[in-house]
Amino acid sequence: MKALIKDFSGLVGQEATVSGWAYNVRSSGSIAFLQLRDGSGFTQAVVAKNGIDEKSWNDAVEATIESSVIVTGTVSKHPKQEGVYELQASRVELVQKAEEFPIGKKEHGPDFLLDQRHLWLRTPSQWAIQRVRNEIINATYAWMKENDYTKIDSPIFTPSACEGTTELFEIDYFGERKAYLSQSGQLYLEAAIASVGRCFDFGPVFRAEKSKTRRHLTEFWMMDAEAAFTDHEGNLKIQESLVCFIVESVLKNCQPELKILERDQEPLKKVQAPFIRMTHAEAIKWLREHGSDIGDMDDLGADDETLLTKAHEKPIFVEKYPTAVKAFYMKRDPEDESRVLNADLLAPEGYGEVIGGSQREDNYEKLLERIREHHLPEKDFQWYLDLRKYGSVPHSGFGFGLERLTTWICGIHHVRETIPFPRLMNRLEP
Ligand code: 4AD
Ligand code: MG
Repeated sequence: MKALIKDFSGLVGQEATVSGWAYNVRSSGSIAFLQLRDGSGFTQAVVAKNGIDEKSWNDAVEATIESSVIVTGTVSKHPKQEGVYELQASRVELVQKAEEFPIGKKEHGPDFLLDQRHLWLRTPSQWAIQRVRNEIINATYAWMKENDYTKIDSPIFTPSACEGTTELFEIDYFGERKAYLSQSGQLYLEAAIASVGRCFDFGPVFRAEKSKTRRHLTEFWMMDAEAAFTDHEGNLKIQESLVCFIVESVLKNCQPELKILERDQEPLKKVQAPFIRMTHAEAIKWLREHGSDIGDMDDLGADDETLLTKAHEKPIFVEKYPTAVKAFYMKRDPEDESRVLNADLLAPEGYGEVIGGSQREDNYEKLLERIREHHLPEKDFQWYLDLRKYGSVPHSGFGFGLERLTTWICGIHHVRETIPFPRLMNRLEP
């Protein structure tokens, strides 16, 4: 019977056929051990020379690291390790004998590994990261479904900027005009809420940011969510609920992955509502008291976010940033016109911003004024302004960076490991 390694606990004593790869091999005289992985998990096949046909034995001893194999055998409990299962092989078929695998057990530098990304992706830690990423995606879809959000796919080719004009990838559109790769689907979701009430998108976005930090990719996956009749306060509640659900799902469904990554799970268990809240002004005060030289109306830099989030156990909403450091579409705080009704959600343990969100300006005249202040091409935003003419409502939304979330939840250092094929300022290959 064809089986997946992850289901072995329920198959003890039964025959199972596993198709996969030998990530390690070892043999001595009359016994061979094939460490197998099939994408669902990891196991060891024990091959005894005197208990198997000759062709199978020859295939088993010929198998090299990363050879593809099909192994049939009886599932058994590991004699010593609790919760570990093995396969007592009765048949081994070598599908393809791998050449010497370039990634060995010794330490490799990040550039070497990134050049070998097509092969690196199959190693246990990279497998675990992609599985956690996948769990975050699935949990997001599940939460959205449960909360009556409709998925609205926003376009990737766009005529204008969403998040400022300095970080746009420009494209020659049929030699006739310029187009830009989307930085966020938000503006399109604002149109769609008048149709479906609450919606989200989830897709690749692009930032021509000249940043070579551990937090920046030039292509990454963003989930934007938008809701009609929702104010700033309601927006934070939605984010809290979603983030708690995602972390809970990973803790529940990704134990083998978190163990491979040696993730300390205690901080993740503390991700419970309500999150910490501080205004931008309070954050500045705290940062100055802790050694930062940040100015009153400055944006938080990466170092500031690290300092702040290392000192707090829960995620932090930093609210009400100065208008000058945030996007044109954010609604101003009626109590202080120099600030906006926004929040960045900063992940603990030094990770920093994982979500950016705000209440949106819903008044036609005010929005037009902001578009002019930001020197944005008015004509390209006519459709967006239209939304404020036909049944405008208070509305809010936010966007998370999938790779930033995955980096934090996996407890790893750099975002580049969380996307299958990272695109960085200095990397387009493989
Ligand atoms: O804060 P940002 O720029 O917000 C927006 O784009 C809004 N339009 C979202 C919305 O309200 N619908 O980006 C959102 C998130 C950030 O918090 C961060 O997690 C991630 O996207 N992000 C990046 N991730 C990796 N590499 C980059 N260069 C990123 N820039 C932003
Ligand atoms: Mg942001």
